[in-house]
Amino acid sequence: LATAATALALSVTATSAFAACDEGEMVIKFSHVTNTDKHPKGIAANLFAERVNDQMDGRACVEVFPNSTLYNDDQVLEAMLQGDVQMAAPSLSKFETFTKVFGLFDLPFMFKNMDAVDEFQNSPTGQDMKSSMERRGLVGLEFWHSGMKQFSANKPLLEPGDAKGLKFRVQPSDVLVAQMKALGASPQPMAFAEVYGALQTGVVDGQENTWSNTYGQKFFEVQDGVTETNHGVLDYMVVTSADWWDSLDADLRDEIAQIMHEVSMERNAAVGEVELQSRQAILDAGGEIRELTPEQRQDWVEVMMPVWEEFADDVGQSNIDMAQEINA
Ligand code: LMR
Repeated sequence: LATAATALALSVTATSAFAACDEGEMVIKFSHVTNTDKHPKGIAANLFAERVNDQMDGRACVEVFPNSTLYNDDQVLEAMLQGDVQMAAPSLSKFETFTKVFGLFDLPFMFKNMDAVDEFQNSPTGQDMKSSMERRGLVGLEFWHSGMKQFSANKPLLEPGDAKGLKFRVQPSDVLVAQMKALGASPQPMAFAEVYGALQTGVVDGQENTWSNTYGQKFFEVQDGVTETNHGVLDYMVVTSADWWDSLDADLRDEIAQIMHEVSMERNAAVGEVELQSRQAILDAGGEIRELTPEQRQDWVEVMMPVWEEFADDVGQSNIDMAQEINA
C-alpha cells in the first residue's frame, strides 16, 4: 500500500506554493513534509522563498513544495544528492544514515526546553554539527526549531505503563525505536504522510509529535487524547547538497546564506508562540489534552532515560554532558 501511495504521489505533478520562476532565474526547489499554515517549518520556508524571490528577483527563485507533495523525508536526501531538489529541512531524526550525532536531539528528556536546544546549537559544538555530513555530500545551512514532543494514543496515557503493548509510529531513528521499547511499546517507523491514515485505521495506536504537527495533521481527531509530556525535541536542519552549493558563484551563495540566516533567526525566535497556538487550536477543536503531575512525569523520566547509555558512544558523551550543563 505504501509503495502504491508513493508511486501515485510521484506520478502527479507536484505544485509549489509559488508562481513559476522566470526564465533565466536559478531555481531552488525546497521540499518539505508539513503544512504551511501556522506551522514553524511551513512559515519559515515560505518566508525564505518570499525574501529570496523579492531581493534576488531575476537571479534566483525559490519554489516551496510542502506537504510531502514532492518527496517524503526518506526520499528527499537521495533526490538532493542526485540534484533533483536543492533544499529541504528534515527533522534531525531523519539523518541517521548520514550521521549518528543528531541522535542527541532524539534522546528523551535530553533538553529541558527549546531555549536549551537553541543554546546548544548556537555553541561552537552545535555549529560544527552543521558540517557533520559533508563527507556524505550534504551541507547543513541552519537549524530550524519546531518544539517539544507530546505523546498521543487511542487510550489515556498517564503512567508510562499505559503505553505498554501499544504500537507507536516513530520517525526512522534508532534512538526513538529504543525509547519506545523502553516503554514496552512497539515502535513502527513510518513516513510522516502516512501517520494520519495509520492512526485512523488502527495500524498504530499512538504517536509522538509537536503541537503543530498534532494539530496540523489532525492526529488529535483520531486519538483519545494528547498527553503533555514534553519528553523530547523536534528540530530541523536545512540542508543542501555540497555539489550544488559549491557550484554557485560565491556572491550568490553568500546572499542566499545571509537571507537563510536572517529568516532562521527571526522564525526560531517565534516558534514557542506558534506551538502554543496549535496547542490552543486542539483545545478549541474539542481535542483532549492531559497534563501530568510532577510525580507522574518523573515516572516517565525514570523509564525512558536509561536509553541515553545505549547511545552515548554514537552521540558523544561530551555532547550529553554539555546539554546537561545547559539545562542546569
Ligand atoms: C515527523 O516525521 O513526524 C516530523 O519529522 C515531520 C516534520 O517535518 O515536522
